[in-house]
Amino acid sequence: MVESGAYGELKLFCGTANPALGEEISAYLHMSQGRVNITRFADGEIYVRFEENARGVDAFVLQSTCHPVNEHLVELLIMVDALRRASAGRITAVTPYYGYARKDKKDAPREPITGRLVADLLMTAGADRVLALDLHAGQIEGFFNIPVDHLRAMPLFADFVREKDLPNAVVVAADDGAVKRSKELADRLDLPLAIIFQRRVGKDVKEPVEIVGEVEGKTPIMIEDIIDTAGTLSGAVDVLMRRGARPEVYICATHAVLAGPATERLARQEIREVIVTNTIPVPPAKHLPKIIVLSAAPLLAEAIRRIHLNQSVSMLFT
Ligand code: R5P
Repeated sequence: MVESGAYGELKLFCGTANPALGEEISAYLHMSQGRVNITRFADGEIYVRFEENARGVDAFVLQSTCHPVNEHLVELLIMVDALRRASAGRITAVTPYYGYARKDKKDAPREPITGRLVADLLMTAGADRVLALDLHAGQIEGFFNIPVDHLRAMPLFADFVREKDLPNAVVVAADDGAVKRSKELADRLDLPLAIIFQRRVGKDVKEPVEIVGEVEGKTPIMIEDIIDTAGTLSGAVDVLMRRGARPEVYICATHAVLAGPATERLARQEIREVIVTNTIPVPPAKHLPKIIVLSAAPLLAEAIRRIHLNQSVSMLFT
């Protein structure tokens, strides 16, 4: 049980996106979840009612805005709105997976910036803080005018891969967007780095054009924030195989979106293991034996405890 902080009693309320993660977090905190009734009106609109006192509490609302993203996002907004109108002392939106983040800038005229729009919606609904894990881009923090604690799964992946003691390994950035996190993983594991450059040829399709670095005879390890259709990773595996890398590729990714053809692409035999976290539930039909799910619950729970007690969370980054 966590003692009361400056913002009142700690309460954790969970949306419907990832009940198992909510269970794990509440178990870590030795507390039960706050009671909330989330149902639908006949026309599909969402109805939320908190079934216990929320006045003056330090409320954490857990909701990954994963598939179906629009449903889960609106549910989160309505929960925050209801808590604000119930006079909660402070409201933290906990979004282990923050959807709509990949449009974080305009790449072409007349496009939206949905990462910013979602931030505006959360602030308008009444969120006082946000706790997130591996936002697609660091600048999304700046879309908020409220504090954002941005956790990272990198230490979980680095520890897991280090334990494997893979022979002759190389960390490979699957595209230029993955260079920073791949370099960090390479530094943490004291491994060389290779970089694949890909060209986008369609909305969900990329084509590898160049690779920099030595991969021949090596065991590739790739790290991504998101596996959506796995097109980026599958294209990277193609080029790695053509360049003589070992057909034993390890993939780490924080958010297992696994949309469309992702499962078939990940099933290819050159991919040995796919290591993800549980920010998004992996349904049984998509849970290939090679998919290993690391729990982000201790990290999120410890961050919640520390935010509640006004303690530093920076030790969670290392
Ligand atoms: C892109 O910017 C992201 O970091 C991922 O590389 C991308 O979203 C993965 O998408 P997909 O799995 O569909 O290639």
